[in-house]
Amino acid sequence: MFKINDNFCQLAESYLFSEVARRIAAFKEANPEAEIIRLGIGDVTIPLCPAAIEAMHAAVDDEANAATFRGYGPEQGYPFLREAIAEHDYRARGVEIAPDEIFVSDGAKSDTGNIGDILAASNRVAVTDPVYPVYVDTNVMAGRAGAPLAGGSFSKVVYLPVTAENGFVPALPEEKVDMIYLCYPNNPTGTALTREQLKAWVDYAAANGALILYDSAYEAFIRQEGVPHSIYEIEGAKKVAIEFRSFSKTAGFTGVRCGYTVVPKELKGVDSEGREVGLNHLWNRRQCTKFNGASYISQRGAAAIYTPEGRRQAREAVDYYMANAALMLSELRKAGFEVFGGENAPYVWLKTPDGMDSWAFFDLLLRECQVAGTPGSGFGPAGEGYFRLTAFNTLENTREALRRIVSRFA
Ligand code: MLT
Repeated sequence: MFKINDNFCQLAESYLFSEVARRIAAFKEANPEAEIIRLGIGDVTIPLCPAAIEAMHAAVDDEANAATFRGYGPEQGYPFLREAIAEHDYRARGVEIAPDEIFVSDGAKSDTGNIGDILAASNRVAVTDPVYPVYVDTNVMAGRAGAPLAGGSFSKVVYLPVTAENGFVPALPEEKVDMIYLCYPNNPTGTALTREQLKAWVDYAAANGALILYDSAYEAFIRQEGVPHSIYEIEGAKKVAIEFRSFSKTAGFTGVRCGYTVVPKELKGVDSEGREVGLNHLWNRRQCTKFNGASYISQRGAAAIYTPEGRRQAREAVDYYMANAALMLSELRKAGFEVFGGENAPYVWLKTPDGMDSWAFFDLLLRECQVAGTPGSGFGPAGEGYFRLTAFNTLENTREALRRIVSRFA
């Protein structure tokens, strides 16, 4: 009999957001009249902006004509998009990233999951805790995480707690690690790192031969000065970091799918013989073999976000969500909750009342307020006793959810 990949048997029964969806569906079935407001998975609600829609319509027309038809595109992404990214996301912030260091994809979830293909199975992984579950689960799949432990952690993963006690700033690891996942602005806590705090990580990686996998999917939500938008704003980062970006939250592409990953040419690892190998070359090789590029239509839509109208329109949607986040912070505080994040990210992270565990609070909120969120413990052991709400719903639904929560808890 053929064998399966045993590592998959180490995973929790279901992916966090699938479990949340399952519980909501079960509640809805038992209570069909319930008007559930979903502040759980970070999915956007504002339709794509007109600039992206027009560009995608035009791209569909291109596909309808022999003269403009596009079949397989470059696996790395079309030059029109790679150049726009280099110009607007990097050069405009004083960072030089060449278009051939940018790899367009179908989103940051796939890329943060797939990047492990080019890294040794023996590498020691560090994650902040709580953490976006994709980083841990994909390392479990690759056999890097070790054995599952009680409480949902894994024996070989180094967990760096981020809690109210340390102001949500992870301490540098005490033991030797090789791969460090950082997501800033952070999912799930909604908190950010300052330039100095991020510099400590770049310096650590340089001094210890570690690689930083930097997920900046939420950079468009940054409001405060002194919070870096890209890890490459920090000197020396091109030698130690890969950066992941997404159009999902920035421009409403959760359904359309488009994102990108930056792998600088300066970034080098060593093979088992100790020889230096460039990661840009390896990732290019991986993508050419396993990926045929994001669709032409998605890439045309994404490129439209960099036109003056596209930028303004996308910005308006981000501002709308951030106004929701501000309302959530003030109303939840009124209701007596201790709340964090929400100032540079579309996530609000709250302490559950009376030390209630995260899933118990999930059930209570669903049952008594018909509001769905995400239990903090689903993001890691240090998330226990916390709960995440997203700012991605409509203002009307956000207001109504807050009204229900305030009247239940204030
Ligand atoms: C989340 O809710 O954490 C995100 O929507 C998940 C994702 O981006 O895949």
